[in-house]
Amino acid sequence: MLRSIRSFSSTSKMLKTLKIGLIPGDGIGKEVIPAGKQILENLPSSYNLDFEFVNLDAGFELFKKTGTALPDKTVEVLKNECDGALFGAVSSPSSKVEGYSSPIVALRKKMGLYANVRPVKSVEGIGRPVDMVIVRENTEDLYVKEEKTYKKEDGTKVAEAIKRISETATTKIAKMAYEIALQRQSIRENTKTKQLHLKPSVTVTHKSNVLSQSDGLFRETCKKVYDVNINDYQNIEYKEQIVDSMVYRMFREPEIFDVVVAPNLYGDILSDGAAALVGSLGLVPSANVGDNFAIGEPCHGSAPDIEGKGISNPIATIRSTALMLEFMGYPEAAAKIYDAVDANLSENKIKTPDLGGNSSTQEVIEDIIKRF
Ligand code: NAI
Ligand code: MG
Repeated sequence: MLRSIRSFSSTSKMLKTLKIGLIPGDGIGKEVIPAGKQILENLPSSYNLDFEFVNLDAGFELFKKTGTALPDKTVEVLKNECDGALFGAVSSPSSKVEGYSSPIVALRKKMGLYANVRPVKSVEGIGRPVDMVIVRENTEDLYVKEEKTYKKEDGTKVAEAIKRISETATTKIAKMAYEIALQRQSIRENTKTKQLHLKPSVTVTHKSNVLSQSDGLFRETCKKVYDVNINDYQNIEYKEQIVDSMVYRMFREPEIFDVVVAPNLYGDILSDGAAALVGSLGLVPSANVGDNFAIGEPCHGSAPDIEGKGISNPIATIRSTALMLEFMGYPEAAAKIYDAVDANLSENKIKTPDLGGNSSTQEVIEDIIKRF
């Protein structure tokens, strides 16, 4: 997707209308999704982008009312009418509710969104310098959930789980990681703030010293995709890191990592760990990405403790909106949004309580828009 869309990009002089599905879900999802909408509506006209929005339902509240957490209509409209989408958050009850399962997990499957992309970036002068993105494979590895438990002759239990790594899924995720590395470089060239990385790099994370077949295939396939496409990827530095020392290095020297690609389980763990490097959950965006669709989604949940107070931090959603645009092929517009967020954070004045401020969600949105 990145490659094919990159070619027409926003240098086009023609006004383009993009239809965006808005799925607020539950809790503060309803308070932060309007932030993404306002950001898009207020993008400067020089990007030649116009937006149409369609509100779509999903979530636990909806399930309680209708018995369905993800209506077919939501999926159909996304598939047939939308160019991209923003998803807020959904609540999941802590004890099992018959018939309910998380609609975002189902949506990722139904839309073929095989990658979970999570950038983690600090603001210059605040905390450790970090500017990395974790590209996590989203469909296989131990998460195929093929588990069984049996009893040995002595009556004690044994549990086993399948760890599945395929050449097909690994090729897809590796390509995406390299394309993201190139895309990030093009965003850096369009952004005003000082940059941590001068050259793109991709770090392949694995444990093939122990799991020589499964992680071995992951490592080999990532390298093969790099070698086969060397003409396109020659500016990218190729690196490998065994996952345990990856964790160590990520906390010791997070500044050295640009793009990190990992199988599902390592990617899950690394991406939560990386988010801890930059403070509030209210800052960290993600995107669920497939070959021709991307859904921007803040990493946080529905935050019932602050719901209805108008104080949720909209920045995770605003950055997710930029990320969605990046995957739709509009890196310049995305860079504009990232710059405006960075400017708000560096000034460190208009901020929500999770960052120690006393501004409202809407005040932060307006302060960021003012900086376009
Ligand atoms: P949470 O992310 O909703 O909240 C954790 C803490 O961070 C809370 O103190 C909350 O106030 C704060 N926080 C989160 N987002 C914030 C924001 N934008 N601004 C300011 N503060 C923010 O996680 P929690 O409490 O574990 O889960 C609450 C509900 O959300 C549960 O039902 C859970 O299942 C669901 N959830 C949904 C996710 C999703 O839809 N992808 C992801 C994580 C949790
Ligand atoms: Mg996780």
